[in-house]
Amino acid sequence: MKIFLDTANIAEIKKGLAYGIIDGVTTNPSLIAKEQQEFIPLIKEITATIPGPVSVEVTASQPEEMIAQAERYAAIAANVVIKVPINLEGLQVVKVLAGRGVKTNVTLIFSPSQALLAAKAGATYVSPFVGRIDDISGDGMALVEDIALIYDNYDIATEIIVASVRHPLHFVQAARIGADVATIPFATLAQLLNHPLTASGMERFLKDWHKVKS
Ligand code: E4P
Repeated sequence: MKIFLDTANIAEIKKGLAYGIIDGVTTNPSLIAKEQQEFIPLIKEITATIPGPVSVEVTASQPEEMIAQAERYAAIAANVVIKVPINLEGLQVVKVLAGRGVKTNVTLIFSPSQALLAAKAGATYVSPFVGRIDDISGDGMALVEDIALIYDNYDIATEIIVASVRHPLHFVQAARIGADVATIPFATLAQLLNHPLTASGMERFLKDWHKVKS
């Protein structure tokens, strides 16, 4: 499973890269706003920092305008992936961009039918938001299972990015299902490694090591 960082923070991306486990980045308008920086220079810096795919979301609502934004963002760097919301306008945009060889990440996926239609339009990736479904007492990972089954039934090449990941269990469940990608907030990275037995084991080994005669 590929791991993307769900952030627009350069320091976090650099740290993730140094750990050797990050394959790409996903941003969204809220994550961009958090950085309080100019948008285009920030995207330039992110795409120059990480060689893998970087999702950048269009914010216009009409297809022509969305396509114009997408073309502008895609021209920033070869690793830009255009994030498009799932709706009728979004589908049209995905089709046009796919025809032009521009990669897309169809976002705000909350149902298997949305994921199937996005794939039919030519999406490179779909992003089911598991955490937001759990937030309203749904089962986010059941959605990922459904999409994986449907894509498998029809040999669909669109990759599944498990998004809105909130805790390590989401990450493990995504890998069990065989999702292509999990995009995770930086804070979740450390949580994935933490284990009390690892910490106490290290402490005991170090204590015993000090007793060794040198
Ligand atoms: C994914 O591409 C989104 O940026 C992100 O995962 C949304 O997560 P949230 O529900 O925690 O905002």
